[in-house]
Amino acid sequence: MASVRTVATTPYPDQRPGTSGLRKRVRVFLQPNYLENFVQAIFDAFPERRGGTLVLGGDGRHHNAEAIQVILRMAAANGFERVVVGRDGILSTPAASHLIRVRGAFGGIILSASHNPGGPEGDFGVKYNVGNGGPAPEAVTERIWAISRELREYRILEAEDLPLGRPGELRLGPMTVEVVDPVADYADLMERLFDFDRMRALFDSGLFRMRYDAMHAVTGPYAREILERRLGAPPGTVVNGEPLPDFGGGHPDPNLVHARALVEAMHGRDAPDFGAASDGDGDRNMILGRRFFVTPSDSLAVLAANAHRVPGYARGLAGVARSMPTSRALDRVAARLGIDCYETPTGWKFFGSLLDAGRITLCGEESFGTGSDHVREKDGLWAVLFWLNLLAVRREPVEAIVRAHWREHGRHYYQRHDYEGLDPDPAAALLEDLRRALPSLPGRRLGGLEVSAADDFAYTDPVSGERSERQGIRILFGEEARAVLRLSGTGTAGATLRLYLERYEPDPARHGLDPGEVLAPLAAAVDAIAGLRARLGRERPDVVT
Ligand code: G1P
Ligand code: ZN
Repeated sequence: MASVRTVATTPYPDQRPGTSGLRKRVRVFLQPNYLENFVQAIFDAFPERRGGTLVLGGDGRHHNAEAIQVILRMAAANGFERVVVGRDGILSTPAASHLIRVRGAFGGIILSASHNPGGPEGDFGVKYNVGNGGPAPEAVTERIWAISRELREYRILEAEDLPLGRPGELRLGPMTVEVVDPVADYADLMERLFDFDRMRALFDSGLFRMRYDAMHAVTGPYAREILERRLGAPPGTVVNGEPLPDFGGGHPDPNLVHARALVEAMHGRDAPDFGAASDGDGDRNMILGRRFFVTPSDSLAVLAANAHRVPGYARGLAGVARSMPTSRALDRVAARLGIDCYETPTGWKFFGSLLDAGRITLCGEESFGTGSDHVREKDGLWAVLFWLNLLAVRREPVEAIVRAHWREHGRHYYQRHDYEGLDPDPAAALLEDLRRALPSLPGRRLGGLEVSAADDFAYTDPVSGERSERQGIRILFGEEARAVLRLSGTGTAGATLRLYLERYEPDPARHGLDPGEVLAPLAAAVDAIAGLRARLGRERPDVVT
């Protein structure tokens, strides 16, 4: 009979969850009891977990398989009645969110460092999601952190590793472990939201080709099942479809920099009509047309404007939301539709209460995250299928759809500049000084633009009343332009400063310009105020998306 062991441990001081769970280098997680401590802190944060169901899975990165076995044994020793785990310990983030919801689970643990590189030298992460399927709110993550700093022991069942390669039920001491096909429920959900007949007809027409790059991350099996099997796309539509523990050495972040091969294919001779990619754990997406990149902010606005054409959203949108740094293209669509548009801090957790309360149906972030009320996470493949449904209905190229959108609503030129691996102190000091200078900015003319307002974004959740402060510095130039600066909360080495630039252009004659050129004066104006180049010692950003 398996017995529970109580193991004495010493707390780690650095287990504070960031924008999206606890994310550290693999080698940090390999320290003695590091994973166990954090998992026990999660469990201790919820005394009412006893008798409940836990959903468990990860993106398959290095250390996923070992960590799954540890967490199963700890769940059995901490009063869970059942754990629903993806086959081989695999679940994409949106699929995990969906499983938590359909099973009425108490919560879920997702093992992922999202788009960060994997492998022994890469990153690992642990994220806790609550019963609505969404990331734990800040009050919960702060509670977990507080507990982790006081932790003296953890509980674990003494038992052998379980074979997780086949769906079915297993016993682990007093607990049931249910191994499920990670794809089936999720794919069924997609069939209920989108017009699969029409999408199948698009592939059958022979006039349309698509390339989906799974970047050797978790969505390969999902995309193959949905695109190639259920929708009849030709084999080979999904590339890099085998999940690998080190993502094939790549950086599984679907953007113009890291999804290079896809971007090149979409610009090459004989390019497909539609290109898309997803990240490590399947919650991000990038949308490309032939020789055309759709910014995530534009993608969100286009989906909102066209939602009525898609079965799952045909009854209309309750409202929409975007994270603060995301471009204001969405706001224009909302105004046209006569629905509310909420502006939230960065991070998906802030959308949860709005979705739960039925205030919004669609939401998204500039960081390649788009989603809806179908789950409580952003959902990469869902966004791709939404676009595919749209293409099947409109039978126009991606580029034509976006250009028509700009003609109707105006174009929001947009770029994000990331300065990575910075020394944390000067980066924090730069923002601190800028914060102090905010009151003096309104009225100043910079780069031909006048500052209309400048503040440090704060947010009060309209449903829960929770307050979040210091969420990013905004420098507004009326309706015309905006710059936002904030520090990343997901990095694992040094600090990353993000500068978000946006400029609105209503005139269709000026919609064909190069975003870098349009935004250069704004970037220079920010540099003049904040002294980025001088103070960070960097000539240019490391990544521009
Ligand atoms: C980044 C993105 C943010 C996203 C998060 C998790 O966080 O900017 O929009 O929600 O990853 O995918 P950051 O590193 O900026 O804190
Ligand atoms: Zn992700």
